[in-house]
Amino acid sequence: MTLGTTREAAPSTGGRVSTDWWRSAVVYQLYIRSFADGNGDGVGDIPGIRAHLGHLVDLGVDAVWINPWYPSPMADAGYDVSDYRAIEPAFGTAAEAAAMVGEAHAAGLRVLLDIVPNHTSAQHVWFRDAVAGDAAARARYIFRPGRGDGPPNDWKSVFGGRAWTQVPDGSWYLHLFDPGQPDLDWINAEVVTEFESILRFWFDRGVDGFRIDVAHGLAKAPGLPDVGDEPEELLSGGHRPDHPFWDRDEVHEIYRGWRRVADSYPDPKVFVAEAWVGSSERLLRYLRPDELHTAFNFPYLNAAWDAAALRSVIDDSLETFSTIGAPATWVLSNHDVVRHVSRLGRPHGDGGRHSLATLPPVETLDRELGTRRARAAAVLMLALPGSAYIYQGDELGLWEVEDLPDEVRQDPTWERSGHTDVGRDGCRVPIPWSGTAVPFGFSPPDATAAPWLPQPADFSGVTVAAQAADPGSMLALYRAALHLRRTHPALGGGGEPAWRDAPDGVLRFDREPGFSCIVNLSAAPTALPAGAQILLASAALTAAGELPVDGAAWLQLA
Ligand code: GLC
Repeated sequence: MTLGTTREAAPSTGGRVSTDWWRSAVVYQLYIRSFADGNGDGVGDIPGIRAHLGHLVDLGVDAVWINPWYPSPMADAGYDVSDYRAIEPAFGTAAEAAAMVGEAHAAGLRVLLDIVPNHTSAQHVWFRDAVAGDAAARARYIFRPGRGDGPPNDWKSVFGGRAWTQVPDGSWYLHLFDPGQPDLDWINAEVVTEFESILRFWFDRGVDGFRIDVAHGLAKAPGLPDVGDEPEELLSGGHRPDHPFWDRDEVHEIYRGWRRVADSYPDPKVFVAEAWVGSSERLLRYLRPDELHTAFNFPYLNAAWDAAALRSVIDDSLETFSTIGAPATWVLSNHDVVRHVSRLGRPHGDGGRHSLATLPPVETLDRELGTRRARAAAVLMLALPGSAYIYQGDELGLWEVEDLPDEVRQDPTWERSGHTDVGRDGCRVPIPWSGTAVPFGFSPPDATAAPWLPQPADFSGVTVAAQAADPGSMLALYRAALHLRRTHPALGGGGEPAWRDAPDGVLRFDREPGFSCIVNLSAAPTALPAGAQILLASAALTAAGELPVDGAAWLQLA
């Protein structure tokens, strides 16, 4: 393993000894299937991660969140877990996982895993016993008799189709996602105990925390009432009070128990919630001092490329999170949404629609524009106080691969939507590391299989190797920004941002000491404050020394 340059501890976090490193951490989301393939079977794995930890160190992130790596039939890319205490054989072994955690720690990186508590795999021993008729096992899931010939209620799966599947004895089980993902019944004390034990299992192995999958979905309304006529997209939640399955108050008792487990460790363990809820007020409930540490800021991900929209979501986020003493978080992309280069490069810099099914057609995409905006978006995000998430490939400026052949699509959304929604495969295409031909260093030269999703030929220009050698690349921009974030006293945990007057469509905020961030979302170049020294810029200044349209810069004020 090559580990690149030695890291300096961020002034605000003090490195690994700090107990609140997560308050200003930059976390790299590592989608294991697509990160790096060590054994040549076309699927990313733990040996691949170990061989490329140096990339994360060189990039300058503080932590890595690894998407589910547990044994899984892969009905939903690993979000259908059949054994929460083991490693999927296609990804590696328990020994390799332990070695990886140790190596990451030695390199100064914290390790977060992904826990999937809303549902297990249909191949989990609990569910197999349940289908075989074991009453105790059945009581851990949500089995109900049908209503007449039909399912127990009108709930729809977020992947399309109904949320109920019938088993041979005629009863139905609930699955808010794929039929291969039966929902657990969190009323059942065995479920509660089991998940606290799973947390301890990984904490005892040195893992630093968890991202909680569908954190807003675990509790279901007593009696499972009909939901009525409401669209249920994957990334929805809490649109109305007392929703029968999203963001119910009962989920909070679960997280109080989890927090007690986390706090029983001397080196504190942290949680980040995936909670798609209706308002900041609802999100705050997850962040009460005896619950979770952080939550993804999806309103920020959803914001359009528009100065007023961004300013309002930044203000709202900072205010909301601070009322409860939680750090704000920032995120632009993840494995469930269209990559932001391809969202921002569409008319109006569409932020909010993250499914290809609802975005304007690919013919309207200007990828160069999207890339320019993505550079500015990174510069803006990394200047904000709190913690930020980078989805693997963001640092390379990867775009959504929109022309995957139908026969390779694996996201269950594609089948379950009756081929009306292509789903999320386009943001999950394997990373290009080096070289000029497929598999671009993703798999070793003697690989026996092609990458699990085909990479487009134009990945050739954006490999890690190509970008590392190019000071104007997206990778160079991310590395420079993350280095400054560690070393500049105003960044990371520095002063609160203060907005400064700026022309219409231009955002400018200062942070003490002496730092300013300026983002030009207007239609004309904009002047920089007099005497300011440029620390970093997403684009070259104009001949007149102005910041171009869709450019962003960090400045040292005179
Ligand atoms: C979360 C995951 C997504 C998965 C779903 C069901 O939203 O991020 O990838 O399909 O939960 O587990």
